[in-house]
Amino acid sequence: MTEAPFRTVFEPFRIHSVEPLRMTSATYRREKVREAAYNLFQLHALDVIIDLLTDSGTGAMSRDQWAAIQHGDESYAGSPSFFIFRDAVRELFPFAHVIPTHQGRAAERILFQAIGGPGKIIPSNTHFDTTRANVEFTGAEAIDLVIAEGRDPAALHPFKGNMDLGRLESLLAERGSDVPCIMMTVTNNSGGGQPVSLENLHGVSDIAHRHGKPLYLDACRFAENAWFIREREAGQGEREVPDIVREMSALADGMTMSAKKDPMGNIGGWLALDDDDLARTCRNLLILTEGFPTYGGLAGRDLEALAQGLKEVVSHDFLRYRIRSTAYVADALERLGMSCIKPAGGHAVYIDAKALLPHIPPLQFPGQALAVALYEHGGIRSCEIGSAMFGRHPDGTESPAEMELVRLAIPRRTYTQSHMDYVVEVAERVMAVKDDLPGYRMVQEPAQLRHFTATFEPIG
Ligand code: F0G
Repeated sequence: MTEAPFRTVFEPFRIHSVEPLRMTSATYRREKVREAAYNLFQLHALDVIIDLLTDSGTGAMSRDQWAAIQHGDESYAGSPSFFIFRDAVRELFPFAHVIPTHQGRAAERILFQAIGGPGKIIPSNTHFDTTRANVEFTGAEAIDLVIAEGRDPAALHPFKGNMDLGRLESLLAERGSDVPCIMMTVTNNSGGGQPVSLENLHGVSDIAHRHGKPLYLDACRFAENAWFIREREAGQGEREVPDIVREMSALADGMTMSAKKDPMGNIGGWLALDDDDLARTCRNLLILTEGFPTYGGLAGRDLEALAQGLKEVVSHDFLRYRIRSTAYVADALERLGMSCIKPAGGHAVYIDAKALLPHIPPLQFPGQALAVALYEHGGIRSCEIGSAMFGRHPDGTESPAEMELVRLAIPRRTYTQSHMDYVVEVAERVMAVKDDLPGYRMVQEPAQLRHFTATFEPIG
């Protein structure tokens, strides 16, 4: 007789070294957030209790990653750590050229400096903020072609990160000569951490290649995406995650990567591609600002930690726990009546602030209002992904973003289930006062990526 499986999906690790959290009072936090001009990026991290600002570079490294750090070789050129890193990348993404960078946006800057420029158009399912900013910085236009369900927080679809193939086809038919490449963000971070199906990737790859265009993956959360494919896509349930990842990369011509996400690094990234000429151009740009091609802005020890992280992140035990623990938070918030993007994303829960705070108009930043309230009430730091982030356009105009979201990003292997139970309890307290939360006015903003440094004040 086989035994029934246990229901509890627990952390598939135990704790090896710990960091203290500093408790603070609501009065103290109200003062601190006012001093930070209501921009949570401006807080001191010590004044945050549970930091869900990002899952980027904030994960806990494993014992074996710390051991790999000791193995790092800091030779300027030809370090053995580079070859260990390159081979670990190629094991999953067998591209001809692997160019390390200090983080994902450096890979984006180099790629778009090489192929972007005025008059060019770069489509994606949804560009992440730094990707969009790096495209626009070259004078090119970044456009988002995610499927309609991907823009509706309440629509249920297993792959809300998919690209609208019809819109891609028409864009290429009308303006093909202006399109240097197609990007696909997996998972689709700005659209709710939603996955892209293998079927859709095949579709995008076929269309791109029929038009003679390369396809690049923005692959930060490739392992979470592959797990969703295994769980949700017909015929994929028996496959190993590395095998799915290799199929994803075989459909593309290159990738940009922030190694601060699924590769479990505290820093790092890379650009990988097959095109020899473009790789030569990119390496020359790399040398200008990042460093020699065998370290590219990283220390040898970082390269070794990433090589080990890549082996760990494709573990089925890890991914089962990771995806379940995110859904655990989303399910609990839903039970409180706090509507979230459905289904839950891989790395984060996205609260629909527009639905929650209908009394705050989009350009008074309902997402910012909710994020400030979560901090004031419980010391939780989250991130607005709405009109504060995306409401200003390159031509200087301002208009509401497609969605007004607050992202609770969950760092990898860092917080436990009781931390998340506390987060849910804070959310419950905020629910009780939600109708009284004020909107915000942006007082000062920079020309690009305004959400990082803008200052705000509450209205009324
Ligand atoms: N692409 C995606 C999909 C990302 O989520 C990020 C970073 C980047 C590119 C840029 O990588 O930070 O290493 O330069 N996302 C972080 C976040 C910052 O909080 O979602 P980076």
